[in-house]
Amino acid sequence: MTHSFFSKEPPHLYLLILLPCLFLLLTVLVVYPNDLRLQSLFSARSNNGPSILGPVSTRPDFRVLIGIITAPWTFERRHLLRHVYSKSLWPAKNVTDYLDIHFVICNVTNNEEHISMLELEIMAYDDIIMLNCTESTMFAKTHSYFSSLPDLFGRGRPYDYVMKTDDDTYLRLDALVASLRDKPRNDMYYGVEIPCNGTEFNFWIPAPFMTGLAYVLSWDLVELMADSEVPANLMLQPEDMMVGWWLQMGGKGKNRYNSFPMMYDFRGDDQESNCFRHDLTADTVAVHRLKENSRWATVLKYFNVTHGLIKPSKLHYIR
Ligand SMILES: *[C@@H]1O[C@H](CO)[C@@H](O)[C@H](O)[C@H]1NC(C)=O
Ligand SMILES: *[C@@H]1O[C@H](CO)[C@@H](O)[C@H](O)[C@H]1NC(C)=O
Ligand SMILES: *[C@@H]1O[C@H](CO)[C@@H](O)[C@H](O)[C@H]1NC(C)=O
Ligand SMILES: *[C@@H]1O[C@H](CO)[C@@H](O)[C@H](O)[C@H]1NC(C)=O
Ligand SMILES: *[C@@H]1O[C@H](CO)[C@@H](O)[C@H](O)[C@H]1NC(C)=O
Repeated sequence: MTHSFFSKEPPHLYLLILLPCLFLLLTVLVVYPNDLRLQSLFSARSNNGPSILGPVSTRPDFRVLIGIITAPWTFERRHLLRHVYSKSLWPAKNVTDYLDIHFVICNVTNNEEHISMLELEIMAYDDIIMLNCTESTMFAKTHSYFSSLPDLFGRGRPYDYVMKTDDDTYLRLDALVASLRDKPRNDMYYGVEIPCNGTEFNFWIPAPFMTGLAYVLSWDLVELMADSEVPANLMLQPEDMMVGWWLQMGGKGKNRYNSFPMMYDFRGDDQESNCFRHDLTADTVAVHRLKENSRWATVLKYFNVTHGLIKPSKLHYIR
């Protein structure tokens, strides 16, 4: 069941775009010094088991699937993320009813260590979506994620929105739910828009796009991606940029929301603020570039994440 999403454009356009894309790829690899991970893989797909947050207690007015793109070997990071998104840290609000959070990895076949660890995680948490893809930060993996969802969770709108985010992004779940509540449920594209006015992003891009730290598509766009043919050469381009371009080619994503400055990169000590990076602020939906545990500690403390939640006990003297 495919329709030609790209048929609006004559085929030679792809040739014109290919060369700049190569240049782009280089530029983006410099701008996003994200680990370009390549690794080979393997099999079983997870069913739609419970996510980190556990079963839903009430049917809220909208639901969001959050896919944290991660690699098979980042066990420790997943451990931390399961903690920061656990229901006990979001008390007093039913915010977690709105969200299902899963980790997204590609198949793993040839690494016994990774397979063993993943088996334990799947047994304990069942929150991993394993796709038939090859690990990379390119569109192939993200495309595999979005386009697998109708098969994994069914059509008929199991979720209103689907987010793609990274394992070095901290989401403030209550602020995210509040921010999405009044948005259109269709043809919606939400995130931090590039180009922004900073010098860092003054390079040629095929279309405006939301950066990969965390962006949201409405479910109709997810189904459209599953049903569309996407030219193979796009698969090897930066994922976030290709989503923006894909939407533009199809004339989709009309309802766009740039959530900067509520979503942003963590500003390091030696960095200036700019159009995608600034100091922590109370009004935050997502902070990105939390690669070191020291940054996680700064963020968790700043947002008072455990404040008042730890019961006094003879067993510990923490804070
Ligand atoms: C949370 O859900 C419970 C029922 O599960 C409901 O009684 C309560 O009013 C809800 N609280 C909020 C703040 O929505
Ligand atoms: C995984 O994808 C490859 C090609 O991309 C295909 O040959 C293979 O059958 C797929 N495996 C499964 C389990 O779907
Ligand atoms: C894992 O994914 C790769 C890339 O799509 C594919 O070539 C391979 O067949 C997959 N392995 C299995 C067991 O599905
Ligand atoms: C970005 O710069 C352009 C041109 O310099 C200006 O028109 C626009 O208002 C600026 N946008 C923001 C968000 O500052
Ligand atoms: C964290 O708690 C302190 C002290 O109660 C308060 O002043 C501060 O505003 C809180 N920070 C945030 C981001 O809510």
